[in-house]
Amino acid sequence: VTDAAPAVLGGSAAAASGRPVRAVVYGVGAMGSILTRLLVEKGAQLVGAVGRSPAKVGRDLGEVAGLGVKLGIPVSDDPAEVLAQAGADVAVVAVASYLGPMYDHFRVCLENGVNVVTIEEESFFPWSTAPELAGRLDELAKRHGATLMGSGAQDAYWMTLPSVLMGAAHRVDSVHGCTRWNVDDYGPEVADHVHAGWLPEEFDAHVAAHGWPSFVVRNTLDALVADAGLTPSEVKTAVTPVIAAEPIQSRALGRAVARGSLLGVTDTATITTEEGPSFEFRQTGCVYAPGESDLNEWVVRGEPAELRLRNDRVPTRLATCTQVINRIPDVINAPPGFLTVTDLPRLRYRHFALDRYVRVP
Ligand SMILES: NC(=O)c1ccc[n+]([C@@H]2O[C@H](COP(=O)([O-])OP(=O)(O)OC[C@H]3O[C@@H](n4cnc5c(N)ncnc54)[C@H](OP(=O)(O)O)[C@@H]3O)[C@@H](O)[C@H]2O)c1
Repeated sequence: VTDAAPAVLGGSAAAASGRPVRAVVYGVGAMGSILTRLLVEKGAQLVGAVGRSPAKVGRDLGEVAGLGVKLGIPVSDDPAEVLAQAGADVAVVAVASYLGPMYDHFRVCLENGVNVVTIEEESFFPWSTAPELAGRLDELAKRHGATLMGSGAQDAYWMTLPSVLMGAAHRVDSVHGCTRWNVDDYGPEVADHVHAGWLPEEFDAHVAAHGWPSFVVRNTLDALVADAGLTPSEVKTAVTPVIAAEPIQSRALGRAVARGSLLGVTDTATITTEEGPSFEFRQTGCVYAPGESDLNEWVVRGEPAELRLRNDRVPTRLATCTQVINRIPDVINAPPGFLTVTDLPRLRYRHFALDRYVRVP
C-alpha cells in the first residue's frame, strides 16, 4: 500500500489490497485477446485461461492472445478446474451472447466465488428479457459472495453518455440513439449473430421461424430507462437486414459477402414509459465498406428543445475492452449479486494498477 492509495480510492478510509488483482480470461477470441493485453498492462496477475478449440487449448495464453510473450498460463478447456484452482478475484468473460447459452459459464465462476465482468450483452440489464435466469444467477452470486456485471461498449457510449446528456435537461420528451459498428472488428461469434453473409430470404425465413431476440439495443435501452427511474409501458423491437450493394471482403467471415447478401442488420428498440418520455435506439452492426467508421449519436428533446451528442470514428472494439478493465475494481468492491451499471458507480479511468482501486474491508 503506498501513500497515494487513499487518494486513488477516492478518499475512502479503506486500504488498497497490496497485491495484484488475480484474473482469469474466459474466452480467448477477438475480445479475450485484447482483454489479456490490457490486464497485463494494468498490473493484473493472469492466473487462468479458458478456451475451446483444439487449436488454442494447451497453448500459452500470451501466445494465443498474440502478445508475443509467454504468460505461463496454459489455455484450458476445463473451466471447472481452472475456476476452482486459480484463486482468482475476477473472470473476464467474452464467449457468446444471451444469458441462456452463457448461464453455465457464469455459474461455474460464481460457484467458485469468482467475480465476473462480461461483455455478454443481455447481462448489461437482464431484468426485463431474462428475469428468471438473472434471478438464479443473482441468488447464486449472493450465496457464494461474488458479483456479476455486464459491461462493454454500451457502458460509456450507449448508456452513461446519453444518461449524462439527459441530466442537462429540465424536461425530457424523447431520447433517440443511433450507433454503428463494424462486424469485422470482432470474431465469428458476432458475425454469426448479425447473420453476415446470409441471403435475405434465408434471414427472413429464420426470423419468421424463430423471431428476433433483440441484439444489444433492447437491454441497453432498458438500462437507460431504469437509470432515469422510469417505468416501461410498451417495448417494441424491429430488425432490418443491411444488404451488400457490391461484394465486400469480410475478415470475420474469412470470405467475401456477395452482392445482395447480408452485411449485417439494423436493430431498433423503442420504449414508451408510464411517466411520458419515450426512447428509441437504433444500431447497425455490419461488415463495413472501405472508408466507413463507427458512430455514436444521441438526441434528447424536451426543454431545452434539443440536446445533441455525437462521437465520430468511435474505436468501439478497443473501447469495449477498456471499459471491462476499468470496471474490474467496481465489481470486486461491490456487494454480491447480479448487478448492473445502474447499481454501480460511474465508469472511471484507472490510471494505476487495478489493485490500487480495490478496497480491503
Ligand atoms: N458488449 C460489447 O460491447 C461486446 C463487444 C464485442 C463482442 N461482444 C460479445 O462478446 C462475445 C465474444 O466476442 P468476440 O468478438 O471475442 O468473439 P470470438 O472472437 O468469436 O470469441 C469467442 C471466444 O469464445 C470461445 N468459446 C466459445 N465457446 C466456448 C466454450 N464453451 N468454452 C470456452 N470458450 C468458448 C471461443 O473459443 P475458440 O476460439 O477456442 O473456439 C472464442 O475464442 C460475443 O458474444 C459478442 O457478441 C460484446
